[in-house]
Amino acid sequence: MTADIKNVNSYHGATIQGWTESESMQFLAFQASRHQKCVEIGVWKGRGTACMAEFACGKVWAVDHFMGSDDERDTNHTQARDDRDGLIAEVETNLRPWLDDGTVELVKLPSVEAAEALKEHGPFHFVWLDGTHTTEALMADIDAWKPLIAKGGLLSGHDASWESVQAALNDRIPGWVHVNRNIWMYPI
Ligand SMILES: C[S@@+](CC[C@H](N)C(=O)[O-])C[C@H]1O[C@@H](n2cnc3c(N)ncnc32)[C@H](O)[C@@H]1O
Repeated sequence: MTADIKNVNSYHGATIQGWTESESMQFLAFQASRHQKCVEIGVWKGRGTACMAEFACGKVWAVDHFMGSDDERDTNHTQARDDRDGLIAEVETNLRPWLDDGTVELVKLPSVEAAEALKEHGPFHFVWLDGTHTTEALMADIDAWKPLIAKGGLLSGHDASWESVQAALNDRIPGWVHVNRNIWMYPI
């Protein structure tokens, strides 16, 4: 079935386990259809990545150390703690068509290291932050990735309702705005 960007239920990403809800899936698809060079921090099993890949007009660098988030390793991310190889095998299966055709490149590194490793491919046009949601970790992600975004590009991320997320945004990018309850954005 060919996916229809207006119908999230038709997306391949909708079949993949993860925490990206419908509005964010559609937001990612829409941004990837309009921005050539996209980066996602926090892939897990590729739910959000697949939404971007399926509608991408360019390339998606998908960054995850597959070790789980510091604050969720013993709750939501136990598979990363107990079976990292199995988790990576699952994400590679889920994203197979786009890994094979080069639409997606999986970058198995911590976010800040990945920014250093990928900066030669920038500037990027859309960066989505959905890694660790502690204030310190999100501030580090913003510090690492914001300088790599082209003028006219978009820095954005998930879980905008979390207090820890808002604390990082208020500190680093005070002009940020809500797209909806879950999504924040900061045009560059
Ligand atoms: C909330 S999950 C991502 C969910 C995913 N976007 C989805 O659509 O389901 C967070 C992911 O970020 C990864 N992560 C957390 N901190 C990271 C960091 N500093 N560098 C790279 N990956 C990180 C974790 O391993 C985990 O897979």
